[in-house]
Amino acid sequence: MSILLTRYEVTKDSGFVAATDFNRRSRLQHVDRVYKAELTNVIQLTSMEKLFHIRIVDNVERERFTFLPGQFVMLEVPGYGEVPISISGSPTNKGYLELCIRKAGTVTSVLHQARRGARVGIRGPFGTSFPLEAMKGHNILLIAGGLGLAPLRSPIFHVCENRADYKDVHILYGARDPSQLLFDYQYEQWNRIDDVELHIIVEKPDDKWTGEVGLITKLLDNIPIAPDDTFAIVCGPPVMFKFVCAQLGRMGVPMHRMFVSLERRMHCGMGKCCRCNIGSTYTCVDGPVFDFWTVMNLKEAI
Ligand SMILES: Cc1cc2nc3c(=O)[nH]c(=O)nc-3n(C[C@H](O)[C@H](O)[C@H](O)COP(=O)(O)OP(=O)(O)OC[C@H]3O[C@@H](n4cnc5c(N)ncnc54)[C@H](O)[C@@H]3O)c2cc1C
Ligand code: FES
Repeated sequence: MSILLTRYEVTKDSGFVAATDFNRRSRLQHVDRVYKAELTNVIQLTSMEKLFHIRIVDNVERERFTFLPGQFVMLEVPGYGEVPISISGSPTNKGYLELCIRKAGTVTSVLHQARRGARVGIRGPFGTSFPLEAMKGHNILLIAGGLGLAPLRSPIFHVCENRADYKDVHILYGARDPSQLLFDYQYEQWNRIDDVELHIIVEKPDDKWTGEVGLITKLLDNIPIAPDDTFAIVCGPPVMFKFVCAQLGRMGVPMHRMFVSLERRMHCGMGKCCRCNIGSTYTCVDGPVFDFWTVMNLKEAI
């Protein structure tokens, strides 16, 4: 158990004084627990990415587990370590968590070898979320590059499930080539929803590709945007969201209405280890979701 938790309990149990929130991050004490979970399905999406369905074993804990689009979990592969992974599924799906994971190094490579039934640990959910409440009644641009569709898929689910709450919705997705496109089996479904327009572009087409070719910023040229009435969520590598946000800025969308997800190396996920900080800002608790104005004011954030 963490020092933070112990101090909290000692203070509470001994009845001296009410527990002092000496560190605002102590509000996160509940997320120090590890849920026992198992892989219930593993789907190969591309050569490097798999989608894992992960079910918390205990029925009550599973039912209680809630998250908001944009949040992440720490996924523990027993004996190998823990990695931060964005939750990719719908917040209304109570059966299992969906995590889309790229084979990047030690832990994720072991995970890519795991089969259905393998046991893992889940801590969380952690971090800030996309402000989908504040976006109600406005147009929304949901923009992802490459693996950025993993964190973006959760707000996409939310917006599609609550379609009447938003005005025009455009999903823009760019990948290096057609073989890198994630979740291609869902495109038709998203496109069929009223007033949801899906735009896809690849940098390097193959012989069969008939769609748009180029960088994701090219897609923005063809979309009518009412800058005062539009919010944008942009997920992907920093170089991508920097260019996309710059273009949105030129189109008149204010920086505080663009939201991005920042990734840093993380160890605890809850503001204790100082692994993820940018100055005094901890990406695990103050982020990973930030508005672009804040990002531009964080030294060396991108
Ligand atoms: C909030 C958050 C959400 C994330 N969501 C996802 C997700 O949905 N899907 C997914 O596949 N990955 C996601 N990542 C990245 C993922 O955590 C790393 O790929 C993973 O930790 C690598 O662990 P490893 O042991 O396999 O690799 P390691 O052996 O630790 O490292 C292999 C390589 O990956 C790089 N790396 C390690 N951690 C990170 C990181 N945090 N960001 C960028 N590069 C890193 C290392 O520099 C090294 O080059 C997320 C990261 C954060 C911080
Ligand atoms: S990951 Fe430990 S402080 Fe952020």
